[in-house]
Amino acid sequence: MAAENLDKIVSLCKRRGFIFPSSEIYGGLQGVFDYGPLGVELKNNLKRLWWKHNVYERDDMEGIETALLTNRYVLRYSGHEKGFADPLIDNRTTKKRYRFDHLLRDQTPEVRLALASAFEVGDAEDYEGLALALLDEPVRAETALKAAKVIDPEDGKPGDWTEPRAFNLMFKTQVGPVADAESFAYLRPETAQGMFVNFKNVLTFTNRKLPFGIAQMGKSFRNEITPRNFVFRVREMEQMEIEYFVLPGEDEAAHEEWIQDHLNWWVEKVGLKRENLQLFEHTKLSHYSKRTVDILYKYPTLGFEELEGLANRSDWDLGSHSKEQDSLGLSANTAKKAMKNEHSTEKLTYFDQPNNRHVVPYVVEPAAGVDRGVLAALCEAYDEETLENGEVRVVLRLPPALAPIKVAVLPLAKNKPEIVAKSKEIKKMIQSSGDVRSVYDDTAGIGKLYRRQDEAGTPLCVTVDYDTLGQSRDGGTDLVDTVTVRHRDTMQQERVAITDLLAYIREQIR
Ligand code: GAP
Repeated sequence: MAAENLDKIVSLCKRRGFIFPSSEIYGGLQGVFDYGPLGVELKNNLKRLWWKHNVYERDDMEGIETALLTNRYVLRYSGHEKGFADPLIDNRTTKKRYRFDHLLRDQTPEVRLALASAFEVGDAEDYEGLALALLDEPVRAETALKAAKVIDPEDGKPGDWTEPRAFNLMFKTQVGPVADAESFAYLRPETAQGMFVNFKNVLTFTNRKLPFGIAQMGKSFRNEITPRNFVFRVREMEQMEIEYFVLPGEDEAAHEEWIQDHLNWWVEKVGLKRENLQLFEHTKLSHYSKRTVDILYKYPTLGFEELEGLANRSDWDLGSHSKEQDSLGLSANTAKKAMKNEHSTEKLTYFDQPNNRHVVPYVVEPAAGVDRGVLAALCEAYDEETLENGEVRVVLRLPPALAPIKVAVLPLAKNKPEIVAKSKEIKKMIQSSGDVRSVYDDTAGIGKLYRRQDEAGTPLCVTVDYDTLGQSRDGGTDLVDTVTVRHRDTMQQERVAITDLLAYIREQIR
């Protein structure tokens, strides 16, 4: 049985050491989590698979790692200083704070209609558009919200609402010893901008021709108003992003290819069932987007929610970060909406030799959340299986490549020094292979040890017993120098010679 709610996953993560609230002994820090011994392995495995697929297995990709501290101008010209904000509102009575568009979404259609007609908004059900219209006239909005009797979901009564206001989601920090208006930088809210501003560097040092892309994985920070649902919406997260640069006109086909490629990747490599994934076509587009399609995953409790966004960002990014924009032949949308850049020292263009022209490349961006990927992998793999004896075992059926531990070596009897010694020797042998994460455990009986490894998603358990040592109770010696290998998913066991064990393990976890 799959996990019927997210709490099952949260509790498994805590029980087995995948993910914990950060700074827990001091009461935690909202929207911030730490990855424990199993969690960090799972996360690294997911990232490794992503990097392999998107960088090593392609001819047209380069990797990069850019800084987390970001010059404010990068985020000014990207549009984040002005536009990376959520609308907020407070109820003075209950002291509750809401995302304004979500508050409007949770009202009755009659309340929305009253507000829409007061602010001349055509579609009352477009609660995001309605929120923006009210945000434009905050003083009038405060009066209108009271007149329309907008309910606070906290107490079910009309609220004493403040003016709605925009709240920027970026974290600021001071750089250097002097705190003044010029001495701050931002913690990056996405990994993307580091790739745009390094476009020329990568182009120069790799001699790439279009189309080519840059990949980056790393931390991003967003001061989310309501972090929630475990690691689904956090303030410190990790992203895996690609900026794929193409000639204008080649963007739409490239976008479509990336959508299909990444949809397949989540299914084939991460093991998510196709029926638990959906494509969502955005109808309301961000200022930079020509087209955006999200890959949604069906998380327990939450339903279908965004796992990855794939946007056709046109020439917005390289155009916005360039000097002398008027000379670049930018698309109409970018020319109209991009801020005049007074600080960049570069024109982020590409010399299109066959056509003897300088162009600003278009960008296709697949952007996925690592934490949401880890959560999806855990949700998909979680299974409660009722055994013949009525016992329920929790098993994480992770693809072996994602499993935090590949092999657990377990002695059948921990009070038999020879069995313990042999088990440790085998663990060392597996460990010396260098790339197979293995553990030794003798802290419980064998049944309990198997259950523990099932919950950790370990595909193979190796057991050393009397037969291994040639001390079989029936006096036979056929099984000397062999071990039992137990498979997580089927619980089937087979006997494997120690000399063949490493090759056998490699074959099983490929
Ligand atoms: N560069 C484009 C960009 O950052 P986004 O849709 O805002 O686009 C990309 O973010 C992905 O990052 C999302 O699909 C999601 O998986 C993840 N993500 C965004 N905000 C997040 C948050 N607060 N917590 C966890 N993951 C988040």
